[in-house]
This record gives sequence, structure tokens and C-alpha cells, in this order.
Amino acid sequence: MRIAAYHRYGSPDVVGIEEREQPEPGPGEVRVRVHAASVGASDAAGRAGSPWFARLAFGLRRPRNTVLGSDFAGVVDAVGADVKRFAVGDRVFGATGADGGAHAEAVVVSEHGAIVPLPDGVTTSQAVAICDGAMTALPFLRDGGRLRPGMRVLVNGASGAVGSAAVQLAARLGAEVTGVCGPGHADLVSRLGARRVIDYTREDPMRPADATTYDLVFDAVGASSFRRARRVLADGGRYLTTVPSWAIMLQQLTSRLGRRRAVIMFTGLRSAEAKRPDLEELAALTASGRFAPLVDRILPLDAVAEAHAVVDTGHKAGTVVIAPVPELQEAS
Ligand SMILES: NC(=O)c1ccc[n+]([C@@H]2O[C@H](COP(=O)([O-])OP(=O)(O)OC[C@H]3O[C@@H](n4cnc5c(N)ncnc54)[C@H](OP(=O)(O)O)[C@@H]3O)[C@@H](O)[C@H]2O)c1
Repeated sequence: MRIAAYHRYGSPDVVGIEEREQPEPGPGEVRVRVHAASVGASDAAGRAGSPWFARLAFGLRRPRNTVLGSDFAGVVDAVGADVKRFAVGDRVFGATGADGGAHAEAVVVSEHGAIVPLPDGVTTSQAVAICDGAMTALPFLRDGGRLRPGMRVLVNGASGAVGSAAVQLAARLGAEVTGVCGPGHADLVSRLGARRVIDYTREDPMRPADATTYDLVFDAVGASSFRRARRVLADGGRYLTTVPSWAIMLQQLTSRLGRRRAVIMFTGLRSAEAKRPDLEELAALTASGRFAPLVDRILPLDAVAEAHAVVDTGHKAGTVVIAPVPELQEAS
């Protein structure tokens, strides 16, 4: 089978296409023919070996796992002994987490991992966009932010994978959402459900001209800080950020004593048992049209370096998807 592999940290062109033996599923494992995989911010960080904390996960001097890709969607094409939850031919999607491996024509995962059936009406690209964006936005808002109807929520990076999901999920729950993005994405963020859009190239969302405050500030792209966000946080408000730093780790502890809390979470490290119900809920929302995972573009496996380059720009809208085994090819 064909895989996208890399052997040293660097720019997008360190990732190339190689041939590898097709993996066989062991007991309790399934092999999934990968129709879609996301190329996300964590893949780009794992490829570049930067920022510094990426090397704690991916290997200090060189990458430990040579195939990136933590989300997959496709069809089960082989099952190992004792597999009970899935059969050959099932449409599935899920996350491999820190193991990576989804940037390949096939990936082997445990049937007890973060893998669930993919409902009809949800495309494989939408499925991996759920993994890339909403699987972070949902636990941040629900568990980190204790989001409730009527809350005033600011989403920074509202057009990205995580931010676009956060805007939709918060608005759907009855929050009053303000989205922050660049000028080219303002209409998109309004359509996703933001009542107000702030263009960060014209206005600093953390220094509003009026006395606007929010119950939640969710910085999905790490472009702010707790110190600056405190100015716009209401009494009892929470600042959530997806991007780790020494400061936020410390503030998460110290802010417990104050009226405004700082929260950092690592959603990819959650257990498979915690992820599965969220995958099912988000897929059901998508199938019923109540949530629309945002796909920036779909590229073939051969264009994996281009996919990394798009992610590196920091201006993708939603999720960049690669299609190792195009579905049309499968059907013909
Ligand atoms: N802690 C966790 O568990 C966790 C989980 C998943 C992801 N993450 C991290 O979350 C981050 C976001 O990932 P993502 O894939 O959602 O990002 P992304 O898709 O790359 O975000 C891109 C969006 O951010 C907007 N943006 C860029 N600069 C901005 C600024 N200064 N202010 C406001 N918006 C800005 C861009 O808008 P314009 O193009 O309109 O300028 C673009 O649409 C990554 O660093 C990722 O590693 C953390």
C-alpha cells in the first residue's frame, strides 16, 4: 500500500510517498481502507518538530512514528480474530490519536479504540473534519467552559477547524456567539451562526471600543493570552485556549483562586471510552443537518506536501483532507 512518510523534521517537502506492506489486523483489530484523513495542525507540528512541545509527543531528535495522520474515515476491509463490533464492509471513522498512521491507504486500529460507525448521509471528508475540529470544540465548550444557553461567547480563530465547529456548536446550544477571523472569512463565520464578527486585522477583540464582556473566551488558535483576555471576561468567566504554553499551565492552577478561570485541555489524549460517545453524537448531528463540519479542500495522497503547506499558512477554513483511496476509484 502507499503511505505518506517522513523521516526528519522540516518543511512540507520532508513528507513523501512510499510503498509499505499492507498491515494485517491482529486479534481484536480491524483494518480500514482510508478514504479520508485530515491533515491538521498537530500533523503540521509533528512534521516540523515545532513548536517545542511537539517533540515531547513526536520524538526529541527525529520522528518516532514515520506516518502522520490521527483521523481516518473509510471502510473496514479486514477483521482480526474475535472482532465483535465491526464487519468487513462497514463504513467507520475515528481517531488513532498519538499513534498516527492514517496518512496511508490502510490503517489498523483496535475495535475498542476511538472508532464508530459512519452514518449514511455523512461523507468521509465530513467525518474527519469532525475529528479535526468538533472533537476538540465540543469537550472544550462543554467540559472546560460549562457552556449554557444564553452565555456570551467569543471564539478566536472562528474560521479554523476547531473555531468553525465551536461557533456552530455554541450557537446551536443557544449561546450568543462573536467570532474572530480575518476579512476573507467574515461571511463564512456569520453563516456558521455568529451574531457578530470581529476582523482581527482591524480591531483587537481583547480591547473593544465599548465595554463588551463575555462569559467564555475560547481562543481556538492561541492568538491571545489569559492576561489580555481578562479585560473582556465577565465576572466568573472562563478563558479557554487550545495552545499550550508555560504561562497557561501556571495560570490554570493559579486562576482557580480568582473569579476568572484559565483552562487548557488536551482533547486528543482523552480515552477511547470518552471519545466514542462524542464521535457518535457529532456524526448524528451531522447526519441530521444540525451540524456542518467545515472542509477546506480535499487533495489526493500524492499532494500531501501541498496539504501540509496549506495548514502551515494558518489561514485554512476548516479541515484540509487527503483522500488516500478516492471513493470513486473504490466504486469503479
Ligand atoms: N489542546 C488541544 O487539545 C488541541 C486539539 C486540537 C487542536 N489544537 C490546536 O488548536 C490550534 C487550532 O487548530 P485549527 O486546526 O482549528 O487551526 P486552523 O484551522 O489553522 O485555524 C486557522 C484559522 O485561524 C484564523 N486566525 C489566524 N490568525 C488569527 C488571529 N491572529 N486571530 C484570530 N484568528 C486567526 C484564520 O482566520 P483567517 O484565515 O480569516 O485569517 C484561520 O481561518 C492548533 O494550534 C492546534 O494544534 C489543540
